[in-house]
Amino acid sequence: DARGRASVRARAGARSRANALVTTSEYKVAVLGAAGGIGQSLSLLLKMNPLISDLRLYDLANTPGVAADLSHTNTGCKVTGFMGADQLEDALKGCDLVVIPAGVPRKPGMTRDDLFAINAGIVRDLCQACTKACPNALINIISNPVNSTVPIATEVFKKAGCYDARKIFGVTTLDIVRSNTFVAEAKGLDINDVDVPVIGGHAGITILPLLSQTYPKCEFTSDEIEKLTVRIQNAGTEVVEAKAGAGSATLSMAYAAARMAEACLRGLSGEPDVYECTYVASNVTELPFFATKVRLGPNGAEEVLPIGDISAYEADWLAKLKVELTGSIEKGMAFVNN
Ligand code: NAI
Repeated sequence: DARGRASVRARAGARSRANALVTTSEYKVAVLGAAGGIGQSLSLLLKMNPLISDLRLYDLANTPGVAADLSHTNTGCKVTGFMGADQLEDALKGCDLVVIPAGVPRKPGMTRDDLFAINAGIVRDLCQACTKACPNALINIISNPVNSTVPIATEVFKKAGCYDARKIFGVTTLDIVRSNTFVAEAKGLDINDVDVPVIGGHAGITILPLLSQTYPKCEFTSDEIEKLTVRIQNAGTEVVEAKAGAGSATLSMAYAAARMAEACLRGLSGEPDVYECTYVASNVTELPFFATKVRLGPNGAEEVLPIGDISAYEADWLAKLKVELTGSIEKGMAFVNN
């Protein structure tokens, strides 16, 4: 759609324009789980972002070392380490954006839902601290299972009386990053131009790349569509298996999370036409949460865009994914409320 294409062009241009366009470059950002595989690489990328003046690194251990290390890079952003639950609220105070990659990653043979038992409580507790220390911050949730941890965060903010549906995001950007890469490779396109919207959620079959909406417009055979769709859905598992027990995607995830964080901050700064696909509270389907393209602005998710026209193949997946996604949403909500 037109807005999708505008978003690609805006994104391409904005990288170079960001310094000149944006009036505020004083954003305070916290990374929770900052000493982990994603957290460290992500913190490095955020330290290099001129929109951020104050970066807080929180984890249960090792943040003093990571912060000392990062603090020697000669970028304008100040970096501070916070360690242990006693320092969590100090880390969060005054933050505009909180990015959460805290929790355990998958090992071979595990689904994202297998992480629920550990990560659900971690996300709940971290979000509870956010409701006290930075109730108006945008929250980017990376911790899996994202399909459930976003409903968990939502219920925590509702209970605390400071819920704003525009401010809580499940980070699905890696699915878009992967789709763009795989499609550019398969079709010989310029990687900088490709934009494939990915909708639904962030686990297995709930990840639905809309190849029919690929920009620039391109034709796929049904065999190509099947192979690309299944590869994108299983791309996380591809990395988990290649790492053979050493964890899941960290570098590509940090790259994707840095892109999402930057989009959120550009939206906050008032830059127009900032769009990302992300998993948010949504009226686009009958499900209370769903990932589609979202317009980011001064209040967070200013507009949740509809799915648009999809192929019969995509409609088939959509019907299937809704069943799984509904279960994951209900599981997350029940975790906080029961
Ligand atoms: P990791 O194990 O390398 O790092 C996790 C960090 O979280 C550790 O430093 C740990 O100390 C910290 N942590 C644990 N409990 C904490 C708490 N209560 N407060 C603060 N920090 C806490 O794991 P990795 O590889 O960085 O993955 C993190 C999460 O990101 C996992 O849940 C993984 O499934 C998820 N993930 C999500 C993706 C997405 O597309 N949304 C893609 C890849 C991973």
